Amino acid sequence: MKKLVLTGAAGRLGTILRGPLSQMCEELVTSDIVESLAELKSNETYIRADLADKSAIMALLEGADMVVHFGAIVDEAPFEELLGPNFIGAYNIWEAAYQHGLSRVVYASSIHAVGMYPKTECIGLDVPHRPDGFYGLAKCFAEDLGRMYWEKRGLEAVCLRILSCAPVGNARALGSWLSDGDLVQLVTRAIDTPVAGFSIIYGVSDNDRCPVDNSGAAFLGYRPNDNAEQFAERILAETGPHDPTDPGQMCHGGPFASIPLGEGAKSLLNIPDEE
Ligand SMILES: NC(=O)c1ccc[n+]([C@@H]2O[C@H](COP(=O)([O-])OP(=O)(O)OC[C@H]3O[C@@H](n4cnc5c(N)ncnc54)[C@H](O)[C@@H]3O)[C@@H](O)[C@H]2O)c1
Repeated sequence: MKKLVLTGAAGRLGTILRGPLSQMCEELVTSDIVESLAELKSNETYIRADLADKSAIMALLEGADMVVHFGAIVDEAPFEELLGPNFIGAYNIWEAAYQHGLSRVVYASSIHAVGMYPKTECIGLDVPHRPDGFYGLAKCFAEDLGRMYWEKRGLEAVCLRILSCAPVGNARALGSWLSDGDLVQLVTRAIDTPVAGFSIIYGVSDNDRCPVDNSGAAFLGYRPNDNAEQFAERILAETGPHDPTDPGQMCHGGPFASIPLGEGAKSLLNIPDEE
C-alpha cells in the first residue's frame, strides 16, 4: 500500500497503532486536532486537522489508499459537542474517501452502539443497534453511513466495535478487554483482508468471559491471543457485590448504560493509570 491515513493519532489507540501501521505502507499520514506528535516514524507525516472541517478532511485524504478513522470525542457528552467531531466528522471521512477513490475505511466503532443489551445476552454482529447514549448513537450513525456508502457507492468499510481497550480495572473488563497486541492484530486484519465489503467485528480479546459473538466475522482472520482471565482473581477480590437491577452493571455498555443522556461516563470506568 502506498498511502495510509490514521486519524485520532494522538490518542491512546492511535499512539499504539502508529508504529505497526507505518510498516504496512510506503507513506503514513497521521492526523489529529493537537498541534504536533512526538517522534514521527521515518515514513510518517503529521497533518493537524479538525474532523468537523470538510475541506481539511478532503485535503487530508487526497491520494490515500485507505483511512483508519479513530479520531473522535471519546465519552458520552451533549449532542451538540459530539455533532462536529463524531457525526459530521464521520460523514466528512466517508465522503472524502469516496471523492478521492479510497478503497476502504477502517473505523473505530464501539460496543456503545449496542450498549443497552443485557450482558446475559451474548450478542452477535447482526443485532439491531441499541445505543446507550449520544456517543453510541454517533457510532450507529457512522456504521449506517458505512453500510450505505458500500451499498450505494462501493466503498468498503470494516467497523471495529471495540469493547474496552484500556488497562483492566473493573469486573466488566474481564469480559470486554481488548489488549494492545490484539488491537494491532485486529486493525492489521481489517486493512490486509483482501475482501471486506461492509463488515462489523467486535474488538475484544479471547476472554473466557467475552460477552459477544464474533463468529460471523471469522473470514477477517482475527484470532486474538490474550485473555483477561489472568486479572480475574485480583479484580474480583477488589470488586464489591453487583446489583443485577443496575443497567450500569447488567448491560454491555457498563456505566454508559446507566448515566443520564449527555453526561460523561468514562471516569466511572475506573481505568488504572498506564504502567
Ligand atoms: N479505548 C477504548 O476502549 C475504545 C472503545 C470503543 C471505541 N473506541 C474508539 O476508538 C477511537 C480511539 O479511542 P482512544 O481510546 O484512543 O481515545 P482518545 O481520546 O485517546 O483518542 C481520540 C483522539 O481523537 C482526537 N480528536 C477529538 N476531537 C477531534 C477533532 N474534532 N478533530 C480531530 N481529532 C479529534 C483527540 O485529540 C484524540 O487524540 C475512538 O473513535 C473511540 O470512540 C475506543
